[in-house]
Amino acid sequence: HAAPLIDPFARPITYLRVSVTDRCDFRCVYCMAEHMQFLPKAELLTLEELDRLCSAFVGLGVQKLRITGGEPLVRRNIMGFFHAMSRHLGAGLEELTLTTNGSQLGRFAGELADCGVRRVNVSLDTLDPDKFAAITRWGRLPQVLDGIRAAAAAGLRVKINVVALRGVNDGELFDLVRWCGDQGHDLTFIEVMPMGDLGNEDRLDQYWPLSDLRARLAERFTLMDLAERTGGPARYVRLRETGQKIGFITPLTHNFCESCNRVRLTCTGELFMCLGQEDNADLRAPLRASGDDAVLIDAIRAAIANKPKGHDFDYSRQTVTGQMTRHMSHTGG
Ligand code: GTP
Ligand code: 5AD
Ligand code: SF4
Repeated sequence: HAAPLIDPFARPITYLRVSVTDRCDFRCVYCMAEHMQFLPKAELLTLEELDRLCSAFVGLGVQKLRITGGEPLVRRNIMGFFHAMSRHLGAGLEELTLTTNGSQLGRFAGELADCGVRRVNVSLDTLDPDKFAAITRWGRLPQVLDGIRAAAAAGLRVKINVVALRGVNDGELFDLVRWCGDQGHDLTFIEVMPMGDLGNEDRLDQYWPLSDLRARLAERFTLMDLAERTGGPARYVRLRETGQKIGFITPLTHNFCESCNRVRLTCTGELFMCLGQEDNADLRAPLRASGDDAVLIDAIRAAIANKPKGHDFDYSRQTVTGQMTRHMSHTGG
């Protein structure tokens, strides 16, 4: 058996996030610019190349594969890729999953379930159709709600991701909690991270620390800390009154880098070792240089040996430091 991937800070790398496209049918304000320049399709790895790469990672001990984008479900023949990846389930791979904006789940939920996907994370920051349109620029709320219904009907567990945005969705905290409770969906709140063109969107104004959100929740509910982790960065509580599980992803107020277990592959074969750093390694060249996986595996190991300690995101001094000019859609969150 190949030796597992361990980074310089003794963190085992068992979780690969794979962005299969930089494109999306939405333009969320915290993720993309209004007018994005997308990669020419010829730059993208083929699905066969992505398969070879992901399979190499599974061979190196990756247990969890999360498909992201852009919007993963807009990539042509993405279901073929999910089918291909499903062969690793139970043979090293423990979880095959995706993060999606939900717009295409109406079409694909059943097939995803057939591929062994058990859970989907769906981004949904508001239940107000006008606000939804304002945040996503191109999205329509009813289509996403239909997609979420289709996912649940197909037997998929749904986790709703809410980016906490002061002045945007802070008034909906309890509505979102109630709706997720009624629908039986898990819910995770995320602190907005400074990525992309920040200057003209002034995200600092919208930064809503989850410590505040948590305190608001605690005014109405009893929060019981849960030890449970899903292999992602969220910490969970259970609301005693409703039994619901709520997650908090707090890159700003509580840095979780010390337990980081993941790296990110982009659709052109760059491996980003940290969401909040520019360090990356090109895996496309070794992939194309040789049909021999040993070359690829050496390149992966060399990249992991350079994984940085963590991100430098910081809003606490009322200015933004650690900002990435890279857009979130490049690495898929
Ligand atoms: P599960 O725990 O498996 O449900 O998934 P997850 O939280 O890992 O994945 P998801 O795609 O739902 O990501 C939710 C948010 O967490 C996104 O905004 C990601 O950008 C953020 N996130 C995931 N990993 C990291 C990380 O290593 N560092 C930082 N700063 N944020 C991360
Ligand atoms: N900060 C925090 N979360 C973000 N996401 C996209 N951009 C940002 C950002 N700047 C979230 C999406 C999706 C997840 C993959 O990342 O809402 O749920
Ligand atoms: Fe698309 Fe997701 Fe980015 Fe929104 S956050 S623009 S849905 S990739």
